[in-house]
Amino acid sequence: MRPEDLPAVMEIEALSLPTPWSEGVWRQELSSPFGLYLVLEEEGRVRAQIGARRAADELHVTTLAVHPACRRRGYGRTLLRAALAEERGVRRVMLEVRPSNAQARAFYAALGFRETGRRPRYYGDEDALLMTLDLAPGGAAAPPAGA
Ligand SMILES: CC(C)(COP(=O)(O)OP(=O)(O)OC[C@H]1O[C@@H](n2cnc3c(N)ncnc32)[C@H](O)[C@@H]1OP(=O)(O)O)[C@@H](O)C(=O)NCCC(=O)NCCS
Repeated sequence: MRPEDLPAVMEIEALSLPTPWSEGVWRQELSSPFGLYLVLEEEGRVRAQIGARRAADELHVTTLAVHPACRRRGYGRTLLRAALAEERGVRRVMLEVRPSNAQARAFYAALGFRETGRRPRYYGDEDALLMTLDLAPGGAAAPPAGA
């Protein structure tokens, strides 16, 4: 993800999530050495994005969104795999999701994530479910086969 991708990225996020990040937050994240931000392009247009932060052998997914017109084409799965391919040696992927976000919960469950906790009032108006994906010892480069 480059700074010039931000208008498209922010539009996708506004169409996808109830509390999108401000441009300032995006620019701060993009300039952080701890962040990994990837976009998926289709015919030169940004159609999906993922953001993550690495801490030791854990990857924390901070944002993921696919343009509403492009869902169920495997883009979300592809972006998660791409993030894991960039961050070798990751043993565990973690993220928060709203309990009310049924489509994201179904997506994470399909990829092998398990619910491992709950963070009260994480979103202010709602708790967060903590989802965890444990990867094979030695560091797999992708979610389990068939996920
Ligand atoms: C969640 C999200 C990123 C999934 O992206 P996607 O590109 O549509 O997902 P994929 O096509 O890679 O789906 C992979 C698998 O996940 C499951 N899945 C994905 N979306 C699903 C849905 N709405 N309902 C049920 N299962 C779903 C399916 O098993 C799917 O495989 P299949 O299409 O072969 O059946 C997308 O719906 C999105 O952007 N949602 C709004 C933003 C959001 O909620 N982000 C996550 C915040 S924590």
